[in-house]
Formats: sequence, structure tokens, C-alpha cells
Amino acid sequence: MNQKISVIGAGIMGTGIAQVASTHGFSVSLVDSSQDALERSHSSLNLVMNRMVEKGKIDIEESDAILSRVHWTSEIGSIDDSKLVIEAVIENMEVKQKIFSDVESLVSNHCIIATNTSSLSVAKITSSCSNTSRVMGIHFFNPVPLMKLVEVIPLEKTATDLVDRVISILRSWKKTIVLAKDTPGFIVNRVARPFYGEALRIHDEGLADFATIDWAVKEFGGFKMGPFELMDYIGNDVNYNATESVYTGSNYNPRYKPSSTQKRMVDEGRLGRKSGKGYYDYSNGIEMPVPIKDEESGKKIFSRILSMLINEAADALNFSIASRDDIDTAMTTGVNYPMGLLKWADELGADYICEELCRLKSNSGDERYEPSPLLSKMAKENRTFYG
Ligand code: NAI
Repeated sequence: MNQKISVIGAGIMGTGIAQVASTHGFSVSLVDSSQDALERSHSSLNLVMNRMVEKGKIDIEESDAILSRVHWTSEIGSIDDSKLVIEAVIENMEVKQKIFSDVESLVSNHCIIATNTSSLSVAKITSSCSNTSRVMGIHFFNPVPLMKLVEVIPLEKTATDLVDRVISILRSWKKTIVLAKDTPGFIVNRVARPFYGEALRIHDEGLADFATIDWAVKEFGGFKMGPFELMDYIGNDVNYNATESVYTGSNYNPRYKPSSTQKRMVDEGRLGRKSGKGYYDYSNGIEMPVPIKDEESGKKIFSRILSMLINEAADALNFSIASRDDIDTAMTTGVNYPMGLLKWADELGADYICEELCRLKSNSGDERYEPSPLLSKMAKENRTFYG
């Protein structure tokens, strides 16, 4: 097999994808319409390679070989002999649709064409293609060289042998693959929404401050970061946009309703670590707020967030967005959850989670707490997800 792939868009994701492919022996055409972006991408990969050599992770020959296999170019014609093209340009429907038409006219019939979109419909991006049997989504996580998870999103018309081929290529890059349906947020960005949304809700109800909620989630859930620390790390703008796109894409399901507190943060430029201030102040000399470590209320906070997360995972399974195992793998690998959510549901019991959700629903009158039909069924029949 020709070991050449092409990546369109030499930004953060495209450069990361090129690095991983090249590290595993593929030659890569990395295409961008901006000369500046190509230069930035080239020097950032150089820097990464130099650091790896300095740390003794690879030797200079390997570093040179990896760099020599990547060809930075503004010439989209250079992709013509690729067996796989991954589009990783800006998150804009029209720009992506145009790229798909251009790519289709350049490559052979056997070439697989994929998009790395995180929030747009794969079907809509690829609707301009005349042959949709070879298009799919391949959703990497940032930073690509460090994050093992990749969500593969075949469309109904995608040929299964091409999906298998993509999976085998990604496995040769040492990636962990899960299959997801073309729905807003795929698996991770959908199932993770309550981690942020419910934490914001608890704060907005005046039940606890940011530091206390973060403490509760780490202390009683074993998560490495609390929701507010993580939102500050991701960037409030990025996190808010992810919520908004799932909310819009789901026809305004109240479970995904964006928080006005987070919106205000974005409007005020409090984007998190990258702007120096978000839920926390990262200026030098400012001490982090101290959580109120009350065990009883901490456990209640965590139980509420976990119940909403489990409900989301059960609902993803209910709508066949992915398999049970893939939903659990996606959350433990893509966002480092300490345990798969459906496994967690089995440990606690579907009846316990349903009772918690029903209690929240009757206290608030809010539809967002409605248990997923699958979770209710499991509770009624006293069943577990893992048989
Ligand atoms: P970025 O802004 O770093 O890079 C986008 C690149 O596309 C830029 O270098 C730009 O010059 C180039 N570009 C724009 N129009 C083009 C065109 N017509 N032809 C060729 N190149 C063009 O963006 P980033 O973060 O790398 O994201 C790229 C894609 O990956 C987006 O669809 C994004 O949603 C998705 N994604 C991003 C993640 C992240 O954490 N940054 C995670 C997973 C997916």
C-alpha cells in the first residue's frame, strides 16, 4: 500500500496529525492556503522534534526522518496520489464543503476522504461529494500526538472495507478507535456536557463555589481535574461553543442549555488560563480560593454531576450513537474519566441514578433531569449494562 496521506489545514490539529502519521512511517503532504500557517507549522514541528531529541525520546536520525517525510505546501494538487486525505481546516461549513469538492476532483477513486470536524455534521460537509461511499469523520483530540483516542464516524453510505482500512491505519499509529454516529458532539463532546453544565448549574443555584465543586468532583469521583479547572484549561470560549453546538444540533434539548454564567465569562474575555483569568485568577501572587470541605455536601454535589453524566451515557447508548464498550472507552481515553460511565452505573445501580434524577426533576421542575428511557428500563428490570 502507498504509505502517503495528505492533511489539509496546517494548524494545531493538522500539524499534530502529520506528526503522528510521519512518526509511524507515512509520508505526508501537509497543505495550507496560508504561507504563515505553513511556516508556523514547520517551525512548531521542528521545535517538538528538537525537544524530543533533547529528552532522549528519539535520536537525531529519527527526528530528521520524521521531518523529511512531511512536505509543507500550499499546492493542493500535491495530494493527488494519496490513499487518505484528512481535512483539518477551520471549523466553517462552506470552507470545508469547498475543500471536499476540490479534493474529490484531485484524488483517485480509491482515496478515502475524511474530516476532523468536532462540531459540524459530517453528512453536510461531505454532501458536495458525488461519491459518498469513501467519506467519513476521523475526529482526533488535541494534542494529537498525546491523545490516544480517535472517534471514527462512518456515514450510512460509507463502505465498511474503507472504515476497516482507516481503523487499521489508525491502529498502526497506536491510536485507540471508537465508532460513533454522525450526531452533535459524537461521543466525548456529547457525553461530557453535564460535567460542565451541571457544575455550572450547581454554582448558579448558589449551592457551592467553583473551588468547592472542583474539590468534590476530585475527592469523591477521583477525577484529575474539577469542571471549573478543566473549563479554564480548555478555554471558556471553546467549551461554550462546544455546548452551544450540541444544544443547537440537538434541537435545543434542555440538557445541553448553555449557561449564562459561562457566556458572561466569554463576553468579559475571561477565557481561562490563556487569558490569565477565568473561574480562577492565574495572576502571579494570587492565591487559589480554598474549598469548603464538607463531606456531606461534597458527596451530594458529586452524585448530582455523576448521575447526569451516567444519564447522558445511557442516552447515547439508547440512541445507538455508539456501543456500550466504545462509550466507556471514549470517556476513559478521551477525557481521562476514572471509570467508564456505564460501568459506574452498574456499580451504583440504575435504580439509584434514576431516583437521584427524579428527585432533581421534582425539586426543580426542569426537564433536563428526565431519566433516559434506557436507564429507566434498566432500573425497572433491575438490569446492568455489563450483563
Ligand atoms: P487552526 O485554526 O489551528 O488551523 C486551521 C488551519 O486551516 C489554518 O492554518 C488555516 O490557515 C487553514 N485553512 C483555512 N482555510 C483553508 C483552506 N481553504 N485551505 C487550506 N487551509 C485552510 O484550527 P485547529 O484547531 O487545528 O482545528 C482544525 C479542525 O479540527 C477544525 O475543524 C476543528 O473543529 C477540529 N478540531 C479541533 C480540535 C482542537 O482542540 N483544536 C480538536 C478536534 C478537532
